[in-house]
Amino acid sequence: MCGIIGYTGPRVARNVVVAGLRRMEYRGYDSAGVAVVSDGRIEYRKKAGKITNLDAELDDHPIPDTGLGIGHTRWATHGGPTDANAHPHLSAGGRVALIHNGIIENFAVLRTELEADGVTFASQTDTETAAQLLGREVEAGADLADAMRTVCGRLEGAFTLVAVDAAEPDRLVAARRNSPLVVGVGEGENFVASDVAAFIEFTRNAIELGQDQVVDVTPTSVTVTDFAGRPAPTHPFEVTWDLSAAEKSGYDWFMRKEIYEQPRAVADTLLGRFNPDGSLRLDELHIPEAELRSIDKIIIVACGTAYYAGLVAKYAIEHWTRIACEVEIASEFRYRDPIITGSTLVVTLSQSGETADTLMAIRHAREQRAKVIAICNTNGATIPRESDAVIYTHAGPEIGVASTKGFLTQVAACYLLGLYLAQVRGSMYDDEIHAVMSELAATPPLIQKVLDELDPIKELAKRFVDQKSVLFLGRHVGYPVALEGALKLKEIAYLHAEGFPAGELKHGPIALVEDGIPIFIVVPPQGRDQLHDKVVSNIQEVRARGALTVVLAEEGDAEVEPYADVLFRLPKVSTLLQPLVATVPLQMFACELATLKGYDVDQPRNLAKSVTVE
Ligand code: F6R
Repeated sequence: MCGIIGYTGPRVARNVVVAGLRRMEYRGYDSAGVAVVSDGRIEYRKKAGKITNLDAELDDHPIPDTGLGIGHTRWATHGGPTDANAHPHLSAGGRVALIHNGIIENFAVLRTELEADGVTFASQTDTETAAQLLGREVEAGADLADAMRTVCGRLEGAFTLVAVDAAEPDRLVAARRNSPLVVGVGEGENFVASDVAAFIEFTRNAIELGQDQVVDVTPTSVTVTDFAGRPAPTHPFEVTWDLSAAEKSGYDWFMRKEIYEQPRAVADTLLGRFNPDGSLRLDELHIPEAELRSIDKIIIVACGTAYYAGLVAKYAIEHWTRIACEVEIASEFRYRDPIITGSTLVVTLSQSGETADTLMAIRHAREQRAKVIAICNTNGATIPRESDAVIYTHAGPEIGVASTKGFLTQVAACYLLGLYLAQVRGSMYDDEIHAVMSELAATPPLIQKVLDELDPIKELAKRFVDQKSVLFLGRHVGYPVALEGALKLKEIAYLHAEGFPAGELKHGPIALVEDGIPIFIVVPPQGRDQLHDKVVSNIQEVRARGALTVVLAEEGDAEVEPYADVLFRLPKVSTLLQPLVATVPLQMFACELATLKGYDVDQPRNLAKSVTVE
């Protein structure tokens, strides 16, 4: 949520900053702005709307070529998406410029105090409060880093702040609490950003800032302290993916590219997790086996698509481990006083590793002495850092706002965790575990097969382009797949869509069925699954009431044929693994429909990729 970047070095800062913003635009696109320090003054340009508007503004009103600059792409919280509310914000005398990601919860009190002192505000944002406070400290003679520490001491909430002082042509200072910030360490140049994608073009050497830290950056130095000014430990790491992973590589949308990357993403997530004897190994799971054996409850906590991945995981984990597994939406979790003990295992799923609700859930769980395992896609992000252990999904950067490969790799990682727990606890025989793992290892080519046969789904989108409502039905693990199919349509095609457990239909949702309404139905594997026939009955029930049925059923399932207006074949896999193949056509359907409607698939309205505020 909000992308921020700062640069100091020999390049033209404006160009570095705007290029970095373009790579982080998925984090928010309500407005964008840039500020540079030139001849003892701050020059800035900012515009509501996407970065193209800022580009036009910079063309009309160029900004000087200097080596120090900051930039911001915004997802609006306090104050609408206007030019005035766009970042950077300047202090009253124009001495400092500041950008911010997060929410300053006590901004109203601080603003009242400043206004009583005669400060006039130029925006409705919470951010400007920090800019004004910082400006006052610096005007009073404080060093920029000292001033930043003082201001941070007054702020409550979540914030990453980056500031420059008009009097210092090559220095920037940043601070972080509860929102992400990484430092890119170059040769004679340095960067700060919300995301490594912003500077990967220039350096792969990065430092993840810890909680409540301030970093003081010049072209040749990076100094990290805590909010009290004491030297603080840093966490250097190397970015392992390259620039092409953060680019569209010829696809029209990142989302489409990421859908097609799924066989590779799932394969990479499974890579290196098997021993030669077929047993599972999770090297990153530094929780003693004795502790894993004493777990009596698992709670999976996540948001949105990751929550649906958690719902899939529940079926597999309970089946394989016989441990009770709850799945909870992170924003609800800590407000309901959940029952957590020292023998509860909390598993969080988060692609970004920065989702504020999930992070708060972790903190709550750890306060209650639970062990926390993070399943995460972003190396060094806050959620894995604050967890007891982490299983990384190796999906590579996910830039399309709608999560696709994030979902599939989270599901795959949850399977690994479930099987590993079963191995440690002895709840499955070794040969049973090996059989599931072999099947899991064989799924990437099957996902590829689904991708190779997606043309009918793309055609279908043309037929449904004027639909007002679409329903999705599934049972067992097909139910979260239905929910995920509906979420994808809502978020990128702005279409009313609902996912239901097929068995629940008669308890209410069937009243929604009217002539011509498209209903997607995920059918469990035939023969091997007791629910298959029940779902076939559900298809008949909705078809009898005029629905247009789009049936996703495995190859060779002839029973569904008479009731399917459109039939899409899925490769044969066992029920628990079916989400890995069944979700893909639904993702592509949403992508195709949104494209046909002329919507911006990668940057759907009102959304942002990482939700770093509660
Ligand atoms: C939906 C989507 C969101 C995220 C959710 C959690 O396509 O992208 O629902 O899944 O905001 O995000 P992470 O996984 O980063 O915690």
